[in-house]
Amino acid sequence: MEKLWGGRFSKNTNKKVDDFNSSIRFDMRMYRQDINGSIAHCEMLAKQGIIPKPDAKLIVKTLGEILNDIENGKITFSVEAEDIHMNIEKLLTERIGDTGKKLHTGRSRNDQVALDLRLYLRDECEKVCRLIADLKKTLISLAERHIDTIMPGYTHLQKAQPILLSHHLMAYCEMFCRDTQRLEQCVARINISPLGSGALAGTVYPLDREFVAAQLGMKAVTKNSIDAVSDRDFAIETCFVMSMIMMHISRLSEEIILWASDEFNFIELDDAYSTGSSIMPQKKNPDIAELSRGKTGRVYGDLIALLTTMKGLPLAYNKDMQEDKEQVFDAVDTVLMTLPIFTEMLATMKINKKNMQNGVKRGFINATDAADYLVKKGLPFRDAHKVIGEMVAHCIAEGKRLEQLTMDEFNSFSNLFEDDIYHILSYQACVDARNVKGGTATEQVTDAIFRAKKSLNP
Ligand code: ARG
Repeated sequence: MEKLWGGRFSKNTNKKVDDFNSSIRFDMRMYRQDINGSIAHCEMLAKQGIIPKPDAKLIVKTLGEILNDIENGKITFSVEAEDIHMNIEKLLTERIGDTGKKLHTGRSRNDQVALDLRLYLRDECEKVCRLIADLKKTLISLAERHIDTIMPGYTHLQKAQPILLSHHLMAYCEMFCRDTQRLEQCVARINISPLGSGALAGTVYPLDREFVAAQLGMKAVTKNSIDAVSDRDFAIETCFVMSMIMMHISRLSEEIILWASDEFNFIELDDAYSTGSSIMPQKKNPDIAELSRGKTGRVYGDLIALLTTMKGLPLAYNKDMQEDKEQVFDAVDTVLMTLPIFTEMLATMKINKKNMQNGVKRGFINATDAADYLVKKGLPFRDAHKVIGEMVAHCIAEGKRLEQLTMDEFNSFSNLFEDDIYHILSYQACVDARNVKGGTATEQVTDAIFRAKKSLNP
C-alpha cells in the first residue's frame, strides 16, 4: 500500500516496521474525536477561504458517513495506514478522491493527535466525574442511614476512640470531593485546542484557531506551537488523578476486606458482589474490594510509565509519545470499570451494627474521655493521662472495662471522680462530646451530610 507520506521513499516499508510503528490497534478508539476535529478544521478552512466551500461540504458529509460506518462496524482499519488519523484520511480519499486530500491543509498529525487525545480525555474525565458523584451519593446515603451507629475509630489499626460510622464514611466522601475538584481542574487544562500548531512551528495559512476551538467546545487555544505538540502534561495529569482516585478506592477496599473478615465482622457483602472458593465450600471472598485494591498498582504503573516516557524527550514531537495512549487509556479504563461495581458493592453491603457497637467495648476506647474528665476537674493533662493509664492497667488485670469500675475503685485512683463519670464514659457521650467543627459528634456529622448532599445537588 502506498503511504500518505510515501513521496520521498523508493521502497515499501518492511512489514515488521509497519507492525511496530502502527498504533491503530489502540488509537482507533479516538475515531469520533478525530472525525469531529477534522470536521471543525475543514469548516474553518472553508470559512477562511483556504479551500473551496463545495469541497469542504463534501469532505464534511463524507466524514459523517465514515463515522456512521465505523459505528456500525462496517470499517476494518489497516495496520499499514499506521494510525487512526491516517486511516480516516485514507478512507476519505478512497471515497472522494482528490477533494479528500485537501483536508490536511494547515494541519499536521502532531497537532491532530494532540487534539484527539485532549478531546478523548476530556470526555472520559467527565464520565469519571459522574461515576464519582454516584459513589459519593452512596456514601452519603449510607452515612445518613447509620447516623446512630457507633464504631471503634482506629489509629495504628488499634482501637483509639469511638466514632460514628457515618463520620468514617464521610471521610471518604471528602476524598472523593477533592478528586472531583482535581478532575475538573484537569479538564480545564485538557480542554484547550492545539490545532494550528502544525508540525511544531505554527502554519502559513490564515487559520481561525478560536473558531475551531469553539466548534469543539474547547475553552481556549494553546499559546506556543512547540509546547502544544510536545506537551503531554494533560495525559500525565489524567493518570495522576486516576491514581489518586484508585488510592482512595484502595484504602476503602482495604477496610471493606478487614471489616468483612470474621475477626471484625462489621459488614457482610452481598452474595451478588462476593465470590466463592473452588476448594473451601464455606468461603465468601471480597474479590471486588481486593481487585479494586489490586488494580490501583496498575494505574500507578501507567502514571510512572508515562512520566518516564516523557522525561528525556527533546522538543518537540517524538514518536516515543505514541506510547502515551495505552497508558492513559488503561488508567482511565480501569477507573471507569472499577467505580460502578465498587459503588454497587458498597450500596448492597449489610452493616452489622451490633458488632460495630460491641467493638467499642474492648480496647478502653473511652480512656481519653476519662483523662479529659480529670482535666476539666483541674488536673493537668499529663497527670490525668498517667492516672488513667494506671486505671487501664488495673482494668486489664481485673478483666474489667473502665465504666465497670466501682466508685470506690475510681476514687482509689483520684478523688476527683464523681458519679457523673459513668455518663462521661458512655460511648454515645464520647462521640457527642467531640462537637467541634469536623468532629464526630452527631450534630457535626449530620451537618456534614447535609452540606455534602447540597453540594451534589446545588
Ligand atoms: N500515531 C502518532 C502518535 O500517536 C500520531 C502522530 C504522528 N506524528 C508523526 N510525526 N509521526 O503519536
